[in-house]
Amino acid sequence: MAITIKNEQDIEKMRIAGRLASEVLDYIEPFVKPGVTTEELDRLCHDYMVNVQGCIPAPLNYAPPGHAPYPKSICTSINQQVCHGVPSDRVLKNGDIVNLDITTIKDGYHGDTSRMFCVGTPSIQAKRLCDITFECMWRGIAQVRPGATLGDIGHAIQKYAESSGYSVVREFCGHGIGKKFHEDPQVLHYGKPGTGLKLQEGMIFTIEPMINAGKRDIRQMGDGWTIVTKDRSLSAQWEHTVLVTADGYEVMTLSAGCQPPPANLR
Ligand code: MF3
Ligand code: CO
Ligand code: CO
Repeated sequence: MAITIKNEQDIEKMRIAGRLASEVLDYIEPFVKPGVTTEELDRLCHDYMVNVQGCIPAPLNYAPPGHAPYPKSICTSINQQVCHGVPSDRVLKNGDIVNLDITTIKDGYHGDTSRMFCVGTPSIQAKRLCDITFECMWRGIAQVRPGATLGDIGHAIQKYAESSGYSVVREFCGHGIGKKFHEDPQVLHYGKPGTGLKLQEGMIFTIEPMINAGKRDIRQMGDGWTIVTKDRSLSAQWEHTVLVTADGYEVMTLSAGCQPPPANLR
């Protein structure tokens, strides 16, 4: 699959899809409280996307090769779940951390973003993992400009994660995005500076590091979707969709409820 370079019309539609995806996270935040089930969060997000925003939730029935169609409209990954957690009747409890991953389709274009939420009061360790993973994502984003390489992004993320005592999941990566949910290139969250694809103005891809408190190894659960850490350590993830501009980057998945980037990267 070739990398698509987006033109001004594509970019304007990606801005809209991206903002809408982020606004779903703004909308759901007050509902992420002890006692709620992930199925309830899924239903609320689904209804908001479909009935309020006029969007299609991209995950619903999404069926990449080797997978049964995904049965829900969002991903909800709790504690040691790394990604692709399937909403269920599981009740969130005080101290849980949960990633909510939203992908909207608006006017044929995709916006993909995820955030960590602390349910009630998190442990100091869980909060630190969420905060450092957020900074990993932003350190990756800060590398983006024409002429930089995918290896520069991966290296920035890996260096900060590992120097903080954490590990980077290898099996899942960021991805090109546009009219398709997952396009080329693959955006690895580890690597060496100056290696890999050179970035060009008009590329759009996600940066979505999955960082484990323990070892990097993962396994898939029996549902065929949910990914967990093999050593049952906590895992966190944040995701933005990013455009390469003439002199740097533009984050497509921003909205009023986004946390500002870490002060050292602003
Ligand atoms: N939103 C995820 C990503 O960031 C993909 C989810 S695929 C699904 O790429 F089928 F699990 F929804
Ligand atoms: Co993604
Ligand atoms: Co996503």
